Amino acid sequence: MNTSATEPIDSNITSGKNKSFWTASTEPIVFEKLKQNIETDILIVGGGIAGLTTAYCLLKAGRKIVLVEDGYIGSGETGRTTAHITCALADRYFELENIFGKEKAMLAANSHMEAIQFIANTVEHENIDCNFKRVPGYLFSSESDTRETLVNEYEATINVGLLTEMLEQVPALASEEGKWCIKFPEQGQFHIMKYLKGLTDAIIGMGGILYTETKAEEISKDGVKANGFEIKAKHIVVATNTPVNDLVVMHTKQWPYRTYVIAAKIPKGRLPYALWWDTGNKESKWISAPYHYVRLEDYDNTHDLLISGGEDHKVGQADDESIPEEDRYIKLEEWTKKRFPAMESILYNWSGQVMEAIDSIAFIGKNPGNENIYIITGDSGNGITHGTLGGIIITDIINDKENPWIDLYSPSRITFNIAGDYFHEVGNMVAQYADWVSNGDVKDADELQPGQGGVISSGIKKIAVYRDEQNKLHAFTAVCPHLEAILQWNAEEKSFDCPAHGSRFTTEGKVINGPATTDLEKIEVKEENKK
Ligand SMILES: Cc1cc2nc3c(=O)[nH]c(=O)nc-3n(C[C@H](O)[C@H](O)[C@H](O)COP(=O)(O)OP(=O)(O)OC[C@H]3O[C@@H](n4cnc5c(N)ncnc54)[C@H](O)[C@@H]3O)c2cc1C
Ligand code: FES
Repeated sequence: MNTSATEPIDSNITSGKNKSFWTASTEPIVFEKLKQNIETDILIVGGGIAGLTTAYCLLKAGRKIVLVEDGYIGSGETGRTTAHITCALADRYFELENIFGKEKAMLAANSHMEAIQFIANTVEHENIDCNFKRVPGYLFSSESDTRETLVNEYEATINVGLLTEMLEQVPALASEEGKWCIKFPEQGQFHIMKYLKGLTDAIIGMGGILYTETKAEEISKDGVKANGFEIKAKHIVVATNTPVNDLVVMHTKQWPYRTYVIAAKIPKGRLPYALWWDTGNKESKWISAPYHYVRLEDYDNTHDLLISGGEDHKVGQADDESIPEEDRYIKLEEWTKKRFPAMESILYNWSGQVMEAIDSIAFIGKNPGNENIYIITGDSGNGITHGTLGGIIITDIINDKENPWIDLYSPSRITFNIAGDYFHEVGNMVAQYADWVSNGDVKDADELQPGQGGVISSGIKKIAVYRDEQNKLHAFTAVCPHLEAILQWNAEEKSFDCPAHGSRFTTEGKVINGPATTDLEKIEVKEENKK
């Protein structure tokens, strides 16, 4: 039998120190840990939107599933999202047409519209109380962009069959830059953790089995080793945001970015419920130009929350722009205040990680080289719809059912027209290994105040150090166990982040983001008579 857990809950299980509004405003969704060997038809690894939607679709199609999640349900990137539910792709339709041609760009548009409809239907069918709303979305030019981008995108959206409109003004935007925008009708928004709770209840109702605090340690075609026990399965779906079953192949096709969010009070009625996005910073050094994304959420009787995101950088590389993680929130606040001056105090801030696929489209389907292992990854800023599509597509593949989107999203696809971006990103990844010969960011552990961390050079060794609130020093090797890049300290989320492929580790050295699957090696330190 699978029931909610009765053991004490560790509310710190999440992928960073800062809590999102969604996780802070709901109870954690927790089940028992796996404590014995089991066998199942289909095993799903990962309890975010992708894993849960897959579980839901498979059960509805009459299959049996077990899902294992190493934190709690939604404690990965899904609990840190901003939950715009949209077909306005972060990487633009005119780019998709260039890369894939018109027919495939049309398929992409159609798949995202279907994903929005799937969510709307599920909310209705399962009676999920998650503040789901249909809202319009507005794409406007950023300060560093020209109107040409909007014109090209408008034409491309019409070409792929979307019912967009060009407006002469951006509704509710205060600043000058927003003179023109593309309106995307019939988009959506919801409270993500309430949606996940509804999906979880439906999954349990259909006989699905969920385990939390259950980590898949080894994944093979026969099954998974988790919490030291064996799970045998005919099919294994790896929905861990970044695949943890593959050392190299997928990690040269997608790149990890960190993105930031603030949520501020705003008097009710001052803004309409809608989604707003700018076209991104064209002066940015990153291949995936950071853009801003804004929406409202119900808060209390007098106020809504204005939730604004952006200021992205490649994971572990914030300092390359001389804007450390903590300063990204300040920039975000300035940007948001200028455009939405009615915003009041900031109640929440958090950051999260997004996997940017090199050709802009998620990877959903059979893992390259495997017949019964499937992955859902590379979902960019559109992970809510991509994660939903993951569930739909993988269910059809496993059930041998035709689906028009299988080839488009195949993880084995070969894409042309992207050589420049590809070599740029690979070059950036290789450059991260230069940190082996550079100095660390902290000279001596004595420099660290309680709550601070960093990386120290000791001869040719690099050591990750963290001084906890009780003044105790913790030390680990700063070499990432995935492919041995040197970790960087993230002062905002209090984690050690890998700039090569995005693995992250807590201040106790525990892995919280793949592709690494093992914790950092601990180094014993002795400190005498510390302050
Ligand atoms: C700040 C931010 C804002 C965003 N805004 C939007 C938006 O507005 N709209 C949109 O469409 N997308 C948005 N995204 C992207 C979207 O939220 C994510 O792409 C999506 O939630 C990822 O879902 P997932 O299920 O693939 O991954 P996750 O939610 O990360 O789920 C994977 C789960 O796998 C678990 N796991 C990992 N390894 C193991 C293991 N070995 N064993 C067991 N379990 C494991 C993790 O604990 C995690 O819970 C945003 C992302 C961020 C960070
Ligand atoms: S995540 Fe690949 S080397 Fe660290």
